[in-house]
Amino acid sequence: MTTGPEESAVPGPVIQLRGVSKEFAGGTVAVDRVDLDVEAGSVLGIVGHSGAGKSTLLRLINLLEAPTAGTVTVDGRELTALGARPLRAARRDIGMVFQQFNLFRSRTVLGNVGYPLRQAGASRAQARERAEEALHFVGLADQARRYPEQLSGGQRQRVGIARALATRPRVLLCDEATSALDPQTTHEVLALLRRVNDELGVTIVLITHEMEVVRAVCDRMAVLDAGRIVEDGPVREVFAAPQHPTTRAFVRSAVQASPLLDLLPEALRRHGVDEAVAASVLAEVGA
Ligand SMILES: Nc1ncnc2c1ncn2[C@@H]1O[C@H](COP(=O)(O)OP(=O)(O)O)[C@@H](O)[C@H]1O
Ligand SMILES: [Mg+2]
Repeated sequence: MTTGPEESAVPGPVIQLRGVSKEFAGGTVAVDRVDLDVEAGSVLGIVGHSGAGKSTLLRLINLLEAPTAGTVTVDGRELTALGARPLRAARRDIGMVFQQFNLFRSRTVLGNVGYPLRQAGASRAQARERAEEALHFVGLADQARRYPEQLSGGQRQRVGIARALATRPRVLLCDEATSALDPQTTHEVLALLRRVNDELGVTIVLITHEMEVVRAVCDRMAVLDAGRIVEDGPVREVFAAPQHPTTRAFVRSAVQASPLLDLLPEALRRHGVDEAVAASVLAEVGA
């Protein structure tokens, strides 16, 4: 079998961290010897309490933070070995979405989405075409001429996602992308991220302190505690049998956030559901 250029994307991990640490000046070790593999086409959720090192870890993946130890490889390129110029080029394969959207107030929606393309050297016409395509994908084609201030929070975040997609990245990093949004809007933005993964095949790493977000969109999850990954695995398995105390606390918080789940054990008993079956149902829904 021959391998054409279209097959050059290696199967397996699209993101690979090996022994990655970040110690800030002053001695805070925000990320501590992290090994992480993110499979191509998957959605990984990283949860942890405030200060656990989530944002730092995410920024280490695209080298917005330079690690003090270890290697970062994305899409087969070791970013930690690249000089400034090839690193800028490699970053175009990695989109980023922020909690506070980070849009330019003085630019239109179209101008915001086209900005990274112009930075990458695209012509005005090409930037416009790609930006329109990205806006169409997020359902905001009709808002292109408006300014961020004229949009709702959910629309602003969809602009942020369109901007991140404009360079057609393989990887999307989301830092608490829904934490500034109300539950209904959160739901819409999470559904959009799911489409980004399903329809565009983009690998997503999202960090959050909300287990509901993990449950809604992630295939796998990792738990960060004091800069270390203390647990990781398929979302269902981690919910069903959390091992680390931090993970247990998060799983409990998710269950408490869904009062209807409290009614489930009793309902299953009342309907005479077999005990073993009931146990696996409860484990699956995280009750
Ligand atoms: N630029 C920085 N300089 C010094 N310390 C920092 C910097 N950024 C983050 N930290 C520290 O690193 C730790 C992890 O921060 P952060 O990655 O923002 O955690 P999280 O996103 O999980 O809340 C915290 O103790 C924080 O104070
Ligand atoms: Mg953070």
